[in-house]
Amino acid sequence: MTGHLSERAYAKLNLTLDVLCKRPDGYHDMKMIMQTVDLFDKVDIILKDTPEIEVDISRDDLPKGLHNLAGKAAESFLSYVNLSAGVSVYITKNIPDKAGMAGGSADAAAVIRGLDRLLGTRLSDKELLELCAEVGSDVPFCLRGGTALATGRGEILTDLPALPACGIVLVKPDFSVSTPALFGALDGREIEKRPDTAAFLDLLKAGDLPGMGAALRNVFEPVLPPSERETVNEIKAHLLRYGALGSAMTGTGSAVFGLFSSLEAAKRIKPLPYTTFFVSPVGKNV
Ligand code: C5P
Repeated sequence: MTGHLSERAYAKLNLTLDVLCKRPDGYHDMKMIMQTVDLFDKVDIILKDTPEIEVDISRDDLPKGLHNLAGKAAESFLSYVNLSAGVSVYITKNIPDKAGMAGGSADAAAVIRGLDRLLGTRLSDKELLELCAEVGSDVPFCLRGGTALATGRGEILTDLPALPACGIVLVKPDFSVSTPALFGALDGREIEKRPDTAAFLDLLKAGDLPGMGAALRNVFEPVLPPSERETVNEIKAHLLRYGALGSAMTGTGSAVFGLFSSLEAAKRIKPLPYTTFFVSPVGKNV
């Protein structure tokens, strides 16, 4: 068995992020509106006859092999389809890590999608999404893409109307915050500023971009450590000053984004001293 495929693994951001409750299994029930954006890693997948799984990556500071989520995805897929094939994966990383943009999950989803194509296994969408959910909570959304409501751990997905054409500025400050620590900071605490997810869905249906800008919200922002929260607030204020319709942190951070009426408008911001990307929303890919 041989063959080679190159997949794009797109980043996501959270238009809204709400945490409902802690579950007996230790995870949290979520309610999030997720959006794919056109910043992507390139994931090259090569089938091999020998049953090893190799994962290499263009950055030395990120995990390789089975320590990388893409390796775990390959392992889960090959064991599910019960084939003794092996695979060599090479990830060209563009999505910043520790950003809340599901970079690792996107690579894992790309491996699952790619292996299904290369091996001709033609698993159903349901099987593919279940395999993705085993690998990580954000992996099913990364497989599906577009604009979706994610509930449960994040793996229960409902397609939504596409976000209207717009421009997005993504800013990645230098700090990162541990995901379990941020979830822990929310536990047993009254959440004050929840997103109004139902109202956001109405705005999405109406294609009301300024309304959506004003309704962007992430419940993790108020529980960031003080100095990190200050940095996030400074970036948000900067983006709003330069014409953003709204701004929020994505996931557990630390990337912050601003929603603009167009990519041209987004590119008019005064640069910040942080890694910055100018992106657009993309639609569903499976
Ligand atoms: O599912 P995933 O491995 O991406 O989750 C990483 C960590 O994030 C979990 O171990 C858990 O601490 C936290 N998490 C959570 N509730 C979710 C998703 C993630 O508590 N819905």
